[in-house]
Amino acid sequence: MKVSGSLRVPGDKSISHRALILGALGSGTSRVTGILESADVHSTAGVLRALGVRVPELSADFVVEGVGLRGMSQPEQPLDCGNSGTTTRLMAGVVAALPVTATFVGDASLSRRPMRRIARPLGAMGAAVELPPHQGLPMSIRGGTLHDVEWRSEVASAQVKSAVLLAGLVAGVHARVTEPARSRDHTERMLAARGAAVTVSGTRVELERGSPLAAMDTAVPGDPSSAAFFAGLAAMAASGDLRLEGVCVNETRIGFLEQLRRMGASVSLENRRLEGGEWVADVVVSPRALRATTITQADVPAMVDEIPMLGCLATRAEGETVITGAGELRVKESDRIAAMVSNLRLLGADADELPDGMRIRGSDAPLRGRVTTHGDHRLAMAFGVLGAAGDNQIEVDDPGCVAVSYPAFWTDLARSHRR
Ligand code: S3P
Repeated sequence: MKVSGSLRVPGDKSISHRALILGALGSGTSRVTGILESADVHSTAGVLRALGVRVPELSADFVVEGVGLRGMSQPEQPLDCGNSGTTTRLMAGVVAALPVTATFVGDASLSRRPMRRIARPLGAMGAAVELPPHQGLPMSIRGGTLHDVEWRSEVASAQVKSAVLLAGLVAGVHARVTEPARSRDHTERMLAARGAAVTVSGTRVELERGSPLAAMDTAVPGDPSSAAFFAGLAAMAASGDLRLEGVCVNETRIGFLEQLRRMGASVSLENRRLEGGEWVADVVVSPRALRATTITQADVPAMVDEIPMLGCLATRAEGETVITGAGELRVKESDRIAAMVSNLRLLGADADELPDGMRIRGSDAPLRGRVTTHGDHRLAMAFGVLGAAGDNQIEVDDPGCVAVSYPAFWTDLARSHRR
C-alpha cells in the first residue's frame, strides 16, 4: 500500500464542544470557524438549544449568541446527549450550577458509561444528582446554589476536571481540581483566554471565585485523534508519505505521535505555530520498519483515544507490544480492551487481554475477517486503517458509526492511499 498527498482532518472534537459551551456562557457574540460537524458536537448544540441558547445549524463559520453565565433556562425535555460522554459530563457541570432540574439521556452505549465520577464532585458542591443503580444514564440533576470545592479526582479525566471547573464558573465559586495525571487541558486554556482567573500548577487547576467569561472567537484546529488514523496508515504503508495539515499538537494530545516515532516511523511537525491559544502544525508521516512498544499508565492520558489505532499498528510491528495502565479503555464508547482483543484474534492476530490493557505480538501474516465495532467509532476507524495495509482484508460491521467524530472518514481513507 502506498500513501500520498495531503489531508486536512476535521476540527478537534474536544475544542468544538468547548467552543459551543463557552460561547453559550459568554456575554456577547462568539464566532466559531472550522467546528467539527459530527454527531457528538450536534449533541452538544442540541442540549444547549434545549437550555434556551440560540445555536444556529452548525457550519464552517457561524456565531453563537452567549446568554451569560446565568442565562440558560429550564429545559422542557430530557437533554439528549446521543453517544457523547463529553456533552454529558461537561453540561452536567453547567446544569448543576443553575436553578433548573434536568434529566440527561443518551444511547445504549452512553447510558452504560460511569457517571458517578461527576455525580460525586457535583454533589459535594451542593447539586442533587440522581443516578440509576448501574450509575450511568438517565441521570437527573437539580442544580442550585453551589459552594467552593477542592476535588481530588481518582481518574485522569478531562471530562471530570471540566465538569467541576464549569460548575465553579457558572456558580461563581472557587473550584480546585487535582488529577492523578494531567489530562487534556483545553478547558483551562479556553477559560483563561476568555478572561477567567485560572491557574495551573502541575496536575492541579484552580478557578477563582467570581471569574468572568468574555465572548471570544474560536478557530478550531484539526483533531489529533482523527489525524492519528492517517498517521497510523502512513506508518504501515509500504511507501510514500502523508501530510496532515493544521493538526492541534497540544502536548496533552500528542502521545500517539511520540509512540509512532518510538516504533520507528518517520514523524515530523512542520510550520509549528500558535493559533488561538493552541499549538498547531502540519504533521508529515512516512513508513519505516515498525518495532513493538511499551505503554504504561503515565503514557495513557495523552493518547487515550488513540490506543485502538496503536493496537492495530502493533500487529504489524516486530516484537511484543504491551499496554498497561489503560483501564479507562473499558469505560469508553465500548469496552475497548475486550473489543480490540476479540476482534484482533478473530482476524488471526496474536493478542491477549490484560486487566488494564493488552499484549499484542506482531507478524506479517495477512489479517482477514469481519470485525464487530459495538457501534464504537474509533474501533471502526482503526480496523478500517488496518484493513488497508498489506494483504489484509477486513470488513467493518457498522461503518456508519464513524459519524460520531469523523463523518467523511471513509472518503478520506480511500483518497489517501492506493493498494
Ligand atoms: C474528552 C476527554 C477524554 C476523551 C474524550 C474527549 C474531552 O475523556 O476520551 O474522547 O473532550 O474532555 P476522559 O477525560 O473521560 O478520559
